Amino acid sequence: MLENLDKIKQQFHDELNAVESKGELEKIRVSFLGKKGLVTQELKNLRDLTPEEKKTAGMKVNSLKQEIEKAIVEHQKILEEREYLEEIKSAKVYDFTIPSSREVGTLHPITIIQKQIEDIFKTMGFIIEDGLEIQTEYNNFEAVNIPKNHPARDMQDTYYLENGQLLKTHTSAAQNTIMRKYGEPKKGEPLKVLFPGRCFRNENLDASHENTFFQLEGMMIGDDISISNLIYFMKVLLSEVFERDVKVRLRPGFFPFVEPGFELDINCAICGGDGCATCKQTGWLELLPCGMIHPNVLSMGGIDPDKYTGFAFGLGLTRLVMMKYNIKDIRMFNSGNLKQLRQFTR
Ligand code: DAH
Repeated sequence: MLENLDKIKQQFHDELNAVESKGELEKIRVSFLGKKGLVTQELKNLRDLTPEEKKTAGMKVNSLKQEIEKAIVEHQKILEEREYLEEIKSAKVYDFTIPSSREVGTLHPITIIQKQIEDIFKTMGFIIEDGLEIQTEYNNFEAVNIPKNHPARDMQDTYYLENGQLLKTHTSAAQNTIMRKYGEPKKGEPLKVLFPGRCFRNENLDASHENTFFQLEGMMIGDDISISNLIYFMKVLLSEVFERDVKVRLRPGFFPFVEPGFELDINCAICGGDGCATCKQTGWLELLPCGMIHPNVLSMGGIDPDKYTGFAFGLGLTRLVMMKYNIKDIRMFNSGNLKQLRQFTR
């Protein structure tokens, strides 16, 4: 019997060492201490012994039973600790003592100037409209008098979607939609709209060409709108933005959607007119193409060109911001370089 106890003890410790889970541990407990367990069996066997033998053997069995109970409890603790460590390892532990970032963002320089111009025009009674970035070929080209195969399309190559739509090459793409939305203006109440937006072109990138840039377009349509209205609004716009007198020059320019059309250039603020990479060594920057809306464009927009006239302008907003802040390379705007982008305030 005593030999048997030694064997049981050895067997228990061997099996315990291999236990990896609480389930396995419970199985061992049952096989040694359960109703039909090995130790329980030994306790039952005591009945067949003489009172003398019972005494010593009984003590041995009981001490083995206690040893096993204790070992099981200890092993359970080890398993629980292991489980806890695993849990910590896989859980996300946040350190709430790390100081939080209290940095405040800043507006992008283009947004700053766009808002400023919107405010100027709002005070002059203009409505602000939001044109779509994905446009039909009709809105981007046909509706502004650029039919298929017109050479003006060459300068405005862009990104086409599989469904035939395109990323708009200019804010003029919204002209037709806006005319249709507001219809013919009432007498003495001209339609005045400003529509800024992001434009896209397939360009070779350099200091003054980007594939993604911003324009800001405006239109005024009524029964008595002339070139003098156009010149007035353009002057207000530029003097407000630059907060000083800027040198401008007006020269004839061709755009299929205006007749007559003009190019309003401003003196390059980066080189002061001497010529640099940004102004392509000319000293001037094309900034504000404009003109009187072509009769075809008005009629395509549902407005009778015999009764109404209007002007339109398409400001190169990105270029204007370069001028205003003396930024030499257009690629900075989309660079995500916060060190540079953050230094602009109104
Ligand atoms: N859409 C022209 C462009 O991107 C700019 C433009 C020129 C707009 C003359 C106008 C305009 O409204 O009158 O090249």
